[in-house]
Amino acid sequence: MLRALARVDLSAIERNCAELARVAAPAALCAVVKADGYGHGAAQAARAAQAGGATWLAVATADEAAELRAAGIGGPLLVMGALTEAELSLALRARADVVAWREASVAALAARPDAEGAGVHVKLDTGMGRLGTRDADEATRAADAVAAAPGLRLAGLMTHFATADDDPAFAREQLARFLPWADAVRARHGGDPLLHAANSAATLGIPESRLGMVRCGIAIYGMDPFGADPAAHGLAPALELRSYLAEVKPIAPGESAGYGRRFVADAPTWIGTVPVGYADGVRRALSGDCDVLVAGRRVPVVGTISMDNLTVDLGPDPPDRGAEVVLIGARGGERVLAEEWARRLGTIGYEITCGISGRVPREHAGA
Ligand SMILES: Cc1ncc(COP(=O)(O)O)c(C=O)c1O
Repeated sequence: MLRALARVDLSAIERNCAELARVAAPAALCAVVKADGYGHGAAQAARAAQAGGATWLAVATADEAAELRAAGIGGPLLVMGALTEAELSLALRARADVVAWREASVAALAARPDAEGAGVHVKLDTGMGRLGTRDADEATRAADAVAAAPGLRLAGLMTHFATADDDPAFAREQLARFLPWADAVRARHGGDPLLHAANSAATLGIPESRLGMVRCGIAIYGMDPFGADPAAHGLAPALELRSYLAEVKPIAPGESAGYGRRFVADAPTWIGTVPVGYADGVRRALSGDCDVLVAGRRVPVVGTISMDNLTVDLGPDPPDRGAEVVLIGARGGERVLAEEWARRLGTIGYEITCGISGRVPREHAGA
């Protein structure tokens, strides 16, 4: 019995990728495994994604690219984030493709001996307002510079949607800005740079955005980019978070549990203490506003979630000390999704799994 465990079902990631690859075809599937695979374990997630049909991988940082290569992960790899000089060296050493949008940075890249053969994806900012240039002419000059540099390859033309999950009309406007530019660049240079724009929400909801490749993150882990039920898209959650009942004790009316006495029993009941807290990623804002599964039964978290413990109201017929507690996952026809936590917290599923801290060991199964 472990104090806390995040169990990752790699076969779920593999099946989710197979489903996304099927949906996206003939577009290729790029599995986004940044941020330690959204908290699931980057290398393990990457391997499962490849087994499920992902032909590309993407990360945000050079360190993440290096970590994948160190774990023996091969295949095309894109670092999507901004890179300092030192990070660029690391990314190139990891044989990763990089993103650029300024002529000057392409020139600097072309001058580096370690960039020989590097793939470059030129990014047009069509409305995300983050990385990339909003100026299509500047992006074209960057693409020209890549194409003109003997050591570089114009590997891709890309953009990123700001609202594919909640405002597809704006995402379509972004696509309408991207496509004429990308088609013009492709016509100028021939070759066949990959066109890619779609994240998970666009892959599932905006078919015409799939282009040559889709970049799916959240969906490969079986979470719903729209914050609803992933099963509606044929996706199954890969991560389960569990702990156990470290203490079970009766509580009388007027007695309390937890900091601040925010829970005071109004009837005799049994309190269970689960030895996980906000230092594990069970956010304090869920105090009194979330359920866990104990022996397949939904029971409420009561009182303040502390750093290392939380308390649940087990009712009049408690299970024994040591009983399994599922915080995220399914048992006996009941389930608690990361999306449920996200809804209660006013956030997104991404933040829930990324927020499960390093103190929680990951166990990978189903490889
Ligand atoms: C540039 C880029 N592409 C694709 C993704 C994957 O997005 P999602 O997890 O919504 O599929 C991300 C993640 O935030 C991203 O930053």
